[in-house]
Amino acid sequence: MPLDIIIGTQWGDEGKGRVVDMLSARADLVARYNGGDNAGHTVTVGTQTFKLHQIPSGIIHPSAVGVIGNGVVINPATLLAEMEMLRGNHIEVDARRLRISHAAHLITPAHRALDHAQEQARGKSQIGTTGRGIGPAYTDKAARMGIRMEEMLDIPTFRRRIESHVEEANQVLAGLFRAEALDPQTVADEYCGYAETLHDYITDTSALVWGALRKGQSVLAEGAQGTLLDIDHGTYPFVTSSNPTAPGVLPGLGVGFGYIGRIIGVTKAFQSRVGAGPFPTEVLGDAATRLRGTGSNPWDEFGTTTGRPRRVGWLDGVLLRYAVRINGLSELVVTKLDVLSGLRMVKICTAYRANGKEYNDLPMGPADLSPFEPVYEEMPGWEPDLTGVRSWSDLPQPAQNYLERIAEISGISVCQVSVGPEREQVVDL
Ligand code: IMP
Repeated sequence: MPLDIIIGTQWGDEGKGRVVDMLSARADLVARYNGGDNAGHTVTVGTQTFKLHQIPSGIIHPSAVGVIGNGVVINPATLLAEMEMLRGNHIEVDARRLRISHAAHLITPAHRALDHAQEQARGKSQIGTTGRGIGPAYTDKAARMGIRMEEMLDIPTFRRRIESHVEEANQVLAGLFRAEALDPQTVADEYCGYAETLHDYITDTSALVWGALRKGQSVLAEGAQGTLLDIDHGTYPFVTSSNPTAPGVLPGLGVGFGYIGRIIGVTKAFQSRVGAGPFPTEVLGDAATRLRGTGSNPWDEFGTTTGRPRRVGWLDGVLLRYAVRINGLSELVVTKLDVLSGLRMVKICTAYRANGKEYNDLPMGPADLSPFEPVYEEMPGWEPDLTGVRSWSDLPQPAQNYLERIAEISGISVCQVSVGPEREQVVDL
């Protein structure tokens, strides 16, 4: 059995949580390999809606073991709150059902304070981070001064590490940003408490994943954020600080190439983004409200982690093709097709135009999209509500045409479409 990967093809929020939820019914391990509690994965089961930030969404299935890989940065406070939330909903979370990599890095209050201070200092060039301390935690990791989960196993040494980490961060906070310093002892007390609770969850998850694959078990890697937020391949600098793309699975879980199976890209039927940065197909005003929703439903386009209204726009075929290439996608899942019902026409961007020239693909990655103007194709829309549709033949002809066009533009097949937030609101193609 292989290692299957689920990847967002856009700027996150593509509806990956629901796809993970579906596929993890058959998975033995479901693993997060990047990001931290900046992620927000929403899964609706009957009347219950779960919003998960750090624990893999697949844990909702009783047979799947959740793995938090070494590529993740962990906020222990929100992790423990999430564990409690799941337990309150009768989902067992103990050290047998959730395993955390010894090599994953910790996020601390100092990282969050630095994230806020850096954003303030950027002024008009703010990235619009989630404020969760993600950038500073990965900065410490790359600078070889981060604190890893395994350090929690020796509490007296861990205490000293936390204290000196906060003291160092205070020098930058106070000296460079004129921000308030943190009390090292208070943070150390808090984190030593987490260490006691999380002790039993910490293990070598790379060995766990490898052992499962060797035994013929199936592993699902659950990407957080999306391709265009990748630190190397996204709309830099308006990106997150990790590699949410498929290649990031290997270092983020500590596995080699040999076991990779399906690489499933999840794309919304339109496009959305939170935070700042380029967005060529963005729409504003009433058209945006129509795609975004009003926020009255949990699946409307408002950030799961921050509650911010998402920017929305038409599906960008150029960026979708790019995501197919960067991730080596084998197939696509299109989510939220139901949201487009009732539109007289739907638009899809098939190319970019700049200086009188047309580009089918990005000439130099997505970092600077400012010179480009989208070239749109308009397709007839459809009136019927799709939320009850369960088969291809029940989709209105214009909706079928739209999906076929997405497959043509991306160059890979669409294997599934979602038409509502519930588990059963999917059409298998
Ligand atoms: P950070 O990851 O908090 O540093 O934020 C960097 C950028 O990534 C910002 O534009 C965030 O809005 C965006 N971002 C981070 N995580 C997510 C996510 O899970 N979904 C969508 N956008 C995200």
